Amino acid sequence: MSIRYNEHTRTFHLQNDTISYIMTVLPGGQMAGLYFGSRIHHKEDFSYLLETASRPMTSYLYEGDRTISLEHIKQEYGVYGSTDYRQPAAEVIQENGSRISDFRYIRHTISEGKPALPGLPATYTEDSSEAETLTLFLKDPVTNLSLKLFYTIFARGGIIARSARFINEGTKTLHLSRAMSLCMDLPDSDYEFLHFSGAWARERHLKKRKLEQGIQSVGSMRGNSSHNHNPFIILKRPSADEEKGECIGFSLIYSGNFLAQAEVDAYDTTRILLGIHPDCFDWKLEENESFQTPEAVMIYTSHGLNHLSQTFHKLYQKRLARGVWRDRPRPILINNWEATYFDFTQERLVDIAAKARDCGVELFVLDDGWFGARRNDHAGLGDWTANRKLLPGGITELAKKIEELGMMFGLWFEPEMVNKDSELYRTHPDWILSTPGRSSSHGRQQYVLDFSRPEIVDYIYEQMAKILREASISYIKWDMNRSITECYSYAYPADRQGEIFHRYILGVYDLYERLTSEFPKVLFESCASGGGRFDPGLLYYAPQGWASDDTDAVERLKIQYGTSYCYPISSIGSHVSITPNHQLNRITPLHTRANTAYFGTFGYELDLNKLTEEEQEAVKQQVLFMKKYRRLLQYGTFYRLCSPFDGNVTAWMAVNEDKTCAVIGWYRILNQTNSSFTRIRLQGLDPEMCYTNNMDGQSYFGDELMNLGLITTDAAAGEAGGDIIPSCDFDSRLYILKAESLSGKSSS
Ligand code: GLA
Repeated sequence: MSIRYNEHTRTFHLQNDTISYIMTVLPGGQMAGLYFGSRIHHKEDFSYLLETASRPMTSYLYEGDRTISLEHIKQEYGVYGSTDYRQPAAEVIQENGSRISDFRYIRHTISEGKPALPGLPATYTEDSSEAETLTLFLKDPVTNLSLKLFYTIFARGGIIARSARFINEGTKTLHLSRAMSLCMDLPDSDYEFLHFSGAWARERHLKKRKLEQGIQSVGSMRGNSSHNHNPFIILKRPSADEEKGECIGFSLIYSGNFLAQAEVDAYDTTRILLGIHPDCFDWKLEENESFQTPEAVMIYTSHGLNHLSQTFHKLYQKRLARGVWRDRPRPILINNWEATYFDFTQERLVDIAAKARDCGVELFVLDDGWFGARRNDHAGLGDWTANRKLLPGGITELAKKIEELGMMFGLWFEPEMVNKDSELYRTHPDWILSTPGRSSSHGRQQYVLDFSRPEIVDYIYEQMAKILREASISYIKWDMNRSITECYSYAYPADRQGEIFHRYILGVYDLYERLTSEFPKVLFESCASGGGRFDPGLLYYAPQGWASDDTDAVERLKIQYGTSYCYPISSIGSHVSITPNHQLNRITPLHTRANTAYFGTFGYELDLNKLTEEEQEAVKQQVLFMKKYRRLLQYGTFYRLCSPFDGNVTAWMAVNEDKTCAVIGWYRILNQTNSSFTRIRLQGLDPEMCYTNNMDGQSYFGDELMNLGLITTDAAAGEAGGDIIPSCDFDSRLYILKAESLSGKSSS
């Protein structure tokens, strides 16, 4: 890995084993982007890539010159108004009302490693040799607003992390009405735009469309990254697929309002913008004040979507997530939510836990309803003290009882929220986000605490820390069950109200930082009505997230498949629940529910006492299986094989590091009679190794399985009787491949 600068041509070349990223300083000082893609040879001069040309209806920067127009130059951080008409990376409103700015190169530094971003989640290095960082110092000469652009290139993989920091070095007050984390101009538009969109209980469905001239975007203005869209997009060449071809992923490490946008101009170049959503954003910068954007990560590969995802998985698993749980297989848990909802007693909880313990489950999680006056969703949020009628000895006693069973104990919180029927609201009615003179909308009868105010974050921290100090708690599920409305804070003046959405998220991060620092052994799982805040920002604090409130195995195939494009399997919260399923009323076989949940953190969300003995026996076997294979499933290399968005069959697989073992999940939605012959080409195996297939006991070389495929034909489908085990709707299988031994390697 290296970052080179040529003084004569004023060109930067960031290069590692996989990629090159090249940019140059224009004669006027603006930064132009020249190339981002597969690694190429270093040269002193790449200026031929600046295709300046005289075109009709063009505005030019310099009098007497008809070549330099920023409209036709690919820029690193384009601003609007001085010949560039595309959507800008930044906009600065000045005291005289002007919105024009012009950031010019002053100097740069190159340093080892990667600096942390104050108050914000970001990727990191453990050893400074893992990455190098280029900081460009730019300045707008009229306002004296300085702009630092950070570029970190990691030693391996096509990874560049970027962010921007503004510092008002002038004397006049400025307002940033837009400050994107990343602006990237690509030389053509021959891409498909992939995004991960949906709604509550159908999060992160893969959507794909061809880029066309004009603007295409996804984003959130809900105060959370949202169920509806995810701060992650991919541009891929139309011919690229899971196994091959060029793809670039753009991911924002942020949990609030965001915009991810592709703009194709009249000449078919593409501008990507990624960052905080500029609508509702306005950040006041007084003299010497600064603003740091969240970090954006972009990853390039020429080896297809699976490789792109694997690069994200590794980076986010190892260099974004932190803490003692980062590298550990995750405990198999049982959560009481779908088993009891609000209707539980201590005795019932212990019963549920005891049966789960008998089945080998390791962690019991008490969900919503244990605190204050909470017996339904109208009351109690904000009062984080145990309801003594339900739990006579409080959380401390319940945690002790669970630990006596030989299990860990976990607890649900929803720290950012309050019900009007709560002590907290009665004491501090002005602590919610609400707009003067207007009524406050609710979501699930609850209101959002103003986390832009440090004293409110402090208060909630003390409430939570008290419980964590007193009771033995190993896990926290941190929920967030509504989006923000009437966003306004009583603590800030009129000209700072545009900061509240972002300050709110900074408050959330602050609380997470303090709790994870004081209680480093606790495993945090993020949640927002399921997957409403499943984003890289929270992965920094909570290495796993509840992927969706939809626990139906068939729906989960799409949700988990979509989620896997960016997020590691170790981060995907997935449970086996009861049938008929509570979201869809669908009845799926127990083995399919488990086969789907294995590709995630794995757990149960039901009362195992209510299963038949035969089912309980099956659960024991599932738990044993997961304990044996969870390292491989959660930390192995994951491949998508067959998409649920394309047809009746879904397949995916995980392979361990030395390729001696693989688990393939195969799922068929509707059964078929007298069905076709089918094969699935596997990936990631060692072509030279010989593997035993647990289904038929036969041996196959890796190259056979990857080229001619694994035979999955179900000739018996539709038949019953005799020895034939009838297959069914919502059926699934797990194939386990084990390398026979290294001596099984063929030399041919
Ligand atoms: C949200 C979560 C659920 C559960 C409930 C409790 O919907 O996603 O898993 O915790 O809240 O109210």
